[in-house]
Amino acid sequence: MSGKGLYDIHCHIVPGVDDGATDIEETRKLLQMEYDQGVRTIIATPHFRFRMFETPVERVKQQFQMVEKAAAEIAPDLQVYSGCEFHANMEMLPMLREQRVMTMAGSRYVLTEFSHNSEENYILERLNALLSGGYKPIVAHIERYEATRTSLDFVEELVGMGAYMQINADSIAGKDGFFTRRYCNKVMKSGLLHFVGSDCHNSTRRISRIGEAYNRVIAKFGQDYADELFIHNPAQIIKK
Ligand SMILES: [Fe+2]
Repeated sequence: MSGKGLYDIHCHIVPGVDDGATDIEETRKLLQMEYDQGVRTIIATPHFRFRMFETPVERVKQQFQMVEKAAAEIAPDLQVYSGCEFHANMEMLPMLREQRVMTMAGSRYVLTEFSHNSEENYILERLNALLSGGYKPIVAHIERYEATRTSLDFVEELVGMGAYMQINADSIAGKDGFFTRRYCNKVMKSGLLHFVGSDCHNSTRRISRIGEAYNRVIAKFGQDYADELFIHNPAQIIKK
């Protein structure tokens, strides 16, 4: 789809650790799908969320080894790294420091998820805590939260304090409806977006559309901006 090496920094391809890939066969299908979309570098981000997804980090690392092997079998230029989609809680800092939860590819970046109805003050407080702790929070799929969805000023405030914003490829590609796509366009037009992730979970319904979203961004905002979102910014995570 694309001659360039795109990145996917948000996906659930590690088998058997969350609600993503159920087994290694599904992982293989997802990796192939990513490759066909033009993705060459992936950060796998299984959920960590209290009372829902609490897979121990040792188990995630163990399962991730299978992902590495599967990726190498698909193509030598397909790189995979380990990360986490960390649902915000009050113990984030000690958990990160004690490495009970992974950052993004061993960097200081932390993919941070909130609840649909998380309040502005809570989002601000948690992101500030991460920033003060020397981490670089990336807010996962900002198109989903009421607080960020209803106020670009709030998004601007978060960016101003040093947080990074991520949107899902599906939302940009229009798979989540007209209003979501319109919101994404507004965020991009305002220069408030840093990353796009597929958030793929399986090979049938929640698939990877990174290449499709990349082409949409090129068509609407030009090649340079698309490259910034899908290549240059994510490359900074890997560089550390
Ligand atoms: Fe996710």
